[in-house]
Amino acid sequence: MNPIPSGRRRLPEVVPQVEVKALRFGPQYMERKTLADGTLVTLRVVRPSDSALLAEGFERLSPESRYRRFLGAKKVLSPAEVRYFSDCDGVNHFAIGAVVERADGSEEGAGVARFVRLPRNPLAAEAALTVVDARQHNGLGSLLARRLFSAAAERGIRELQFHVLSTNQPMLSLLRKLGRPAEHRANSEFDGDVLTIAVQVRGVAPGTAA
Ligand SMILES: CC(C)(COP(=O)(O)OP(=O)(O)OC[C@H]1O[C@@H](n2cnc3c(N)ncnc32)[C@H](O)[C@@H]1OP(=O)(O)O)[C@@H](O)C(=O)NCCC(=O)NCCS
Repeated sequence: MNPIPSGRRRLPEVVPQVEVKALRFGPQYMERKTLADGTLVTLRVVRPSDSALLAEGFERLSPESRYRRFLGAKKVLSPAEVRYFSDCDGVNHFAIGAVVERADGSEEGAGVARFVRLPRNPLAAEAALTVVDARQHNGLGSLLARRLFSAAAERGIRELQFHVLSTNQPMLSLLRKLGRPAEHRANSEFDGDVLTIAVQVRGVAPGTAA
């Protein structure tokens, strides 16, 4: 089960007019932040050349984190899924990633947050968040979530919907701590105990709403 499908989605019929290059979270976006344990991370918008980082980051996820992210057992990411997850158009499918620089200068993926606009409701998007186990509980998930909401606002999105296992305390707690009004609904689309948590996006940029 995957809250964000592995295949390409049909694009929404009505897409807000957004000039991606003019946005804060456009292709040029780059930000350095220090996590609670002192780790320096670089945040940037995910691009096709990040596919190897994404695939390698998935390999470092524990079975539990994979289960929580994909709402089911997930042993491998297929090449098509890796392509899909790294080839985002920046408006309807947006992803922001965090990387850590290793001592030898190479990069290691630490986390990623994304949303995919809903085809039938362009003012809403399905969203998901992943931090590799070794970097969890260090503030990175919250940081990525805050940036994801800002990027969604810039793109005229008013609601982000997260599919979360009802036992996923870290994610439920993270969403609660964002301090935004959230609506919880049971989701019959998925097996098991999955909640869909719809969180309002504040501060929709003027002129970007559909
Ligand atoms: C959910 C997830 C993204 C949180 O990332 P993170 O970097 O650990 O998040 P943060 O460090 O910002 O923590 C946010 C809050 O989550 C809660 N939290 C984080 N890890 C927790 C844990 N192991 N146990 C209980 N609560 C936890 C805490 O309330 C924390 O706030 P606090 O540290 O101020 O108390 C991460 O655990 C993850 O990737 N899990 C696997 C994938 C997943 O579940 N995705 C969600 C489905 S969309």
